Amino acid sequence: GKVLVLHGPNLNLLGTRQPEIYGRETLDDINNALYERATLNDWDISCRQSNHEGALIDAIQGARLDGTTAIIINPAAYTHTSVAILDALNAFEGKVIEVHLSNVHKREAFRHHSYVSLRADGVIAGLGSQGYRAALDALING
Ligand code: DQA
Repeated sequence: GKVLVLHGPNLNLLGTRQPEIYGRETLDDINNALYERATLNDWDISCRQSNHEGALIDAIQGARLDGTTAIIINPAAYTHTSVAILDALNAFEGKVIEVHLSNVHKREAFRHHSYVSLRADGVIAGLGSQGYRAALDALING
């Protein structure tokens, strides 16, 4: 398999951004652990972060053309706003797993709705950085 891991806006600040909510691990820590796990299981992996909605959409569109079989996405705040990211994911035919570090359902009401969940095959929230690992394991074992 070949997996694209996509991180949305502000996730480049992980480690220092509200660590009581999002943890102390950096994005590099998370990506390195995923990279190790994927390659150990003969999966191709690439990890990308962008603060820009259009760049995330371009990456999802790119995944239709380069043999990507699955996307793990934390759309961050775009989860709750972006019909455009939902549309891009709807045009992608592989598996989609949505991940949130925090338990969005325990937080403000505006975080309770996810456009991306209308497309996601699975959703993981509230497990911190472990959620990404669990998503990857589900794909590898799936
Ligand atoms: C988040 C939850 C979103 O509501 C928030 O806007 C984020 C991160 C999470 O991983 O818990 O930026 O997706």
